[in-house]
Amino acid sequence: MSKKPIILGIESSCDETAAAIITENDLNQPVILSNVVSSQEEIHKEFGGVVPELAARSHLEKIDWIAKKAIKDSGINIKDIDGVAATAGPGLVVCLSVGLSFGKSFANTLNKPFMAINHLEGHALSPKLNSIINYPYLLLLISGGHSQYLIVNGLGNYKRIGTTIDDALGEAFDKTAKLLGIEFPGGPQIEILAEKGDPEKFILPKPILNRGGCNLSFAGLKTAILKISKNIKSDQDKYNIAASFQKTIEEIMRKKTIVAFKEFKMKNESKKNTFVIAGGVAANKKLRKMFEEICDEHNFDAIFPPINLCGDNAAMIGLVGLEKYKSKLFDNLNFPANPRWQLDEKAIFLKGAGIKL
Ligand code: KG4
Ligand code: ZN
Repeated sequence: MSKKPIILGIESSCDETAAAIITENDLNQPVILSNVVSSQEEIHKEFGGVVPELAARSHLEKIDWIAKKAIKDSGINIKDIDGVAATAGPGLVVCLSVGLSFGKSFANTLNKPFMAINHLEGHALSPKLNSIINYPYLLLLISGGHSQYLIVNGLGNYKRIGTTIDDALGEAFDKTAKLLGIEFPGGPQIEILAEKGDPEKFILPKPILNRGGCNLSFAGLKTAILKISKNIKSDQDKYNIAASFQKTIEEIMRKKTIVAFKEFKMKNESKKNTFVIAGGVAANKKLRKMFEEICDEHNFDAIFPPINLCGDNAAMIGLVGLEKYKSKLFDNLNFPANPRWQLDEKAIFLKGAGIKL
């Protein structure tokens, strides 16, 4: 049996510094040998959001020992590494540059191939770390910076069918949390508070719900919550806002996902369809339940990454690296950081006021 490739993955696109060692088993399924993630939550908490320069400095301080720890935890020898994969975009350019330069020089020192990875492709393929998925599949990518429906036809082959025209879904959760006085990053707290609230208490807007295909819009919710939040008098008011917000998001995502299902089915004929939900917001349990329900109703299989791999991590970067390595898709050491790198590079830019849908 030939030796299986061993890939070092590096991630530093935003506020997580991460490294992982990935290989595959005899059935060619990916295996995580180690996965180290260091979050910078504490650093950015007092500013209510990620401060790029502080994030970059922290990446710089930590990247070396995090990579060493990933190698040590995996039990492999540094000489066993066959290739190095690092996130090159999208993200904050000062942050991307740290992991990218580290990855390139590591590959150069080992004299092994280097692979520049699209962070979104990491999220897109992350469910392959615990499930067997065949192309094509419908992907919903919901993170702090992106909200897109994509048809995934293969490695590096994406067709975007819907996107947000303003805020990303994770951003909407974080902004709502901030208005409720929850510390950054507050998104994950919303569903916890929502459990104690009345979801019928506030009627919130559902922008472009009945038009614009499966494109999304969340900015109107933030404006509505800003108004309501001025009258918060008790914790119960906060719980009610959280519950109403969570319910409104579920309703928007239910309706838009059914539109995306129809578009996917029009373009692909298969007996059983696959719907993959990835990115930080895919950790939201109530959204997961709703997606599972509509998948049952519309003949789709719902597939999620494991909860601990929904957020940013390097295992997903190593996984894309492994797939690129097997296809000999290597990159040059002068590959630049690309803060706006899209998965579907042909998709038109759809953001800002005045967009006609
Ligand atoms: O994928 P990710 O870790 O980073 C980006 O690439 O953006 O996603 C982070 C986002 C944040 O906005 C965070 O609030 C949101 O995912 N998030 C959640 C939950 N857990 C994380 N949003 C709603 N419910 C959750 N349980
Ligand atoms: Zn991410």
